[in-house]
Amino acid sequence: MAAANAYAPYSGFHVGAVVIADDGRTFTGCNVENAAYGSGICAEGNAISTAAAAGVRKIDTVVIACLDAGECYPCGNCRQLMREFSVDTVVVQDGTGSLRTHDFTEILPHSFGPDSLESGPRKD
Ligand code: THU
Repeated sequence: MAAANAYAPYSGFHVGAVVIADDGRTFTGCNVENAAYGSGICAEGNAISTAAAAGVRKIDTVVIACLDAGECYPCGNCRQLMREFSVDTVVVQDGTGSLRTHDFTEILPHSFGPDSLESGPRKD
């Protein structure tokens, strides 16, 4: 799994993610940390960006697993990134190693997304 390739010398958290696109293609990513801590990227962001670079614009499912911790729920930034590509389902490895499946609305309720801008205030 992608987590085995995580570059995580600072946190020690090795995270992997798999994106399943609406056309069935899959893309993987791992977290890649940086000595300038804030410049690191998450596994989900890596996988989603790889999918986007391959032309994906609709993602059905994101699966997340961490080798070093019980639960690995996505950070707020990655939740918003998922929203941009209309993710329906998020699967997270829980403390026992089994998988929990969530509807995206549980992960980011009352979200702001591309459609929110369509009725926006811009009148110029
Ligand atoms: N991390 C992820 O890659 N995905 C998550 O869902 C949560 C956290 C990474 C970021 C950082 O490299 C390390 O885990 C500790 O926060």
